[in-house]
Amino acid sequence: MDAISVIRTKRDRGELSPEQIDWIVDAYTRGEVADEQMSALAMAILLNGMNRTEIARWTAAMIASGERMSFDGLSRPTTDKHSTGGVGDKITLPLAPLVAACGAAVPQLSGRGLGHTGGTLDKLESIPGWRALLSNAEMLDVLDTTGAVICAAGDQLAPADKKLYALRDVTGTVEAIPLIASSIMSKKIAEGTGALVLDVKTGSGAFMKTIEDARELASTMVALGTDSGVRTVALLTDMSTPLGLTAGNALEVRESVEVLAGGGPRDVRDLTLALAREMLDAAGLKDADPEKALDDGSAMDVWRRMISAQGGDPDAALPVAREQHVVTAPASGVLTRLDAYDVGVAAWRLGAGRARKEDPVQAGAGVELHAKPGDTVTEGQPLLTLHTDTPEKFEYALKALPGAYDVAPAGTPFTP
Ligand code: URA
Repeated sequence: MDAISVIRTKRDRGELSPEQIDWIVDAYTRGEVADEQMSALAMAILLNGMNRTEIARWTAAMIASGERMSFDGLSRPTTDKHSTGGVGDKITLPLAPLVAACGAAVPQLSGRGLGHTGGTLDKLESIPGWRALLSNAEMLDVLDTTGAVICAAGDQLAPADKKLYALRDVTGTVEAIPLIASSIMSKKIAEGTGALVLDVKTGSGAFMKTIEDARELASTMVALGTDSGVRTVALLTDMSTPLGLTAGNALEVRESVEVLAGGGPRDVRDLTLALAREMLDAAGLKDADPEKALDDGSAMDVWRRMISAQGGDPDAALPVAREQHVVTAPASGVLTRLDAYDVGVAAWRLGAGRARKEDPVQAGAGVELHAKPGDTVTEGQPLLTLHTDTPEKFEYALKALPGAYDVAPAGTPFTP
């Protein structure tokens, strides 16, 4: 077998055979196929697609590149959630302890942010002392004793995906449904969860800009999970405007803690509860009451134990950026649009995200929203507050924002 013949098959719109897929994924992981050859193949897949049989085989080959975890020894059913990523999407933070408080075990292997979307690990690392890197034994221990763990995936979990995702990121080949579906599902199936809820985002701040693409991605992932014995369901949710009122690491932790305390922005609370119900249902815990667990403090108790078990101090003050800049409403009326992508880019440029995967992030950087679409605003009132430790970043961040919002005259009908 050789890489050139595999690339030619897909370049010429052919179907890759199981042998071709197994060979190229394995050879690439071992370093026998060069990055430039794999990026040519990834581009051919992006342009010409893969059918469901090819995607299933590709996913299986990525799983086979590493180890499979098992939670068979746990007394509780396991259930997990994956979001395809967005702006202000801090839902994992309140969700994992909430679902654990309702009786399930939540092994949440999460990632870091890249580009305009934030990463769960970057957010949690703004809590003083908190550690994302755990050994398998430590991970199982936190899961067993607290009911939830949020940590980085180990190097041995689908290593083929780790290498391929980094390559796709720098070769313009991220936005391919077969590659996204196999990337996400190889990690989730290898992780060994019994049930999985997928939050597939659509809109300007998501990878999938249209509802049709989001639906195709969701049904591809549900089929991969179901065929592997994981009870898998998907919700399609909106990412045309940021979730909640914050985008940025410590800012989002603060908002998540508000939700765990029974408050927080309505959209964050509602989505947290909707996903919790699906996760509990998929885990067979149909009688659990997540709303009660949020309001009676039991989800907060699990959060505190989970953060402490990973070295964090749940009572420590969160970092605050040294500098702020306020953007005001240009007119009085109704805010009819606040664009998730533009706000995400501004937060990223302020230092909340990274341009290359080895870059550091600023814990306090980000964007705070003072109004959401549908709200009435008055000319000159604060609309957004930008936070950063490095004020020279304001100018570049502000360049992302002129087209980010629309204010229509008062009385203009608003449909979300
Ligand atoms: N998240 C992943 O894990 N993989 C992708 O390909 C896209 C988003």
